[in-house]
Amino acid sequence: MGNRQKMVFGNWKMNLNKKEADILSKELNEGLKTSDVKVAVFPSFPYVGQVSENASRYSVGVQNFYPQENGAFTGEVSVIQVKDIGAELALIGHSERRSIFNETHSFLKKKVDAALGAGITPVFCCGEPFEVRNAGEERAYVLKQLEESLFHLDKRAIQKCVIAYEPVWAIGTGLTASTEQAEDMHRAIRSWIAKQYDQECADSISILYGGSCNASNAKELFSCPNVDGGLIGGASLKSDSFLTIIHSF
Ligand code: PGA
Repeated sequence: MGNRQKMVFGNWKMNLNKKEADILSKELNEGLKTSDVKVAVFPSFPYVGQVSENASRYSVGVQNFYPQENGAFTGEVSVIQVKDIGAELALIGHSERRSIFNETHSFLKKKVDAALGAGITPVFCCGEPFEVRNAGEERAYVLKQLEESLFHLDKRAIQKCVIAYEPVWAIGTGLTASTEQAEDMHRAIRSWIAKQYDQECADSISILYGGSCNASNAKELFSCPNVDGGLIGGASLKSDSFLTIIHSF
C-alpha cells in the first residue's frame, strides 16, 4: 500500500450527550497507543469545541457545514466557523446527507471547494445503494460521484482529500462488504484517480472503507492492499471497540 497515511475516523452521527462525548473523547486520548495511524472523530456540532479541547492525540472533524463564509443562512454553520472551533476535517457526501438532506453532486462540489479553501480536509464519501450493486452497476455509480464532485480539482488539491468508500447497503446494517468487494472498489477508485491525474497522485490518496466495520472485521478489511483504514459509525461510540479498530493495523 506504499506510504499512504493509515487512518481511522469515527463518525458519531447524531449520538451521545455532552457528558458522554466528554468521557469518550478523554478515553480515546488516554487509550491511543499508536502514532502511525491518523485518528479523528466527528462529533455533533455542540460538542466539537469541547472534544477538540480533550483531543491532543487525534483530530476532530465535523459531519457537516454550509459552503459559504458567512451571511443570512439561518441555522447553518460555515466552514470558517468550523475551523475556528478546532475542526480540521469535514465529512462531505455521506449517504445520509445525500439521501435524507438531498445533497446533490453540484452542492457537494461546492462543499469540497469551500473546505479546501478554508484549509479543512474533505473526507469525501461515496458508495452505491443495494439496488445499484444488485444490478451490477456499482462501479459506474461511484465513478460518477467522484467525477461530479471531486475530479474538477487539480492534482495538488485532490491530494489534500481523503476518500471513504461506504456502500450504502453496509451502513448501519451489520452487513459488511467482503474483503473482495472492498478491495475491488478501492482498486477501481485508485485506478480512476490514476487515469484522471497520475499514478503517483493515486498512490498518495488514502481510501477508507466504511459500512459496519467493527472490532471483529477491521483487521481483515485493513489487510487489503488498497484499503487504508476505516470510517466507523456505530463501533466508534465506545472507546474499547474504536481503539481495537485503530490498533488492528
Ligand atoms: P456504520 O456507519 O459503521 O455504523 O455502518 C458508517 C458510516 O456511516 O460512516
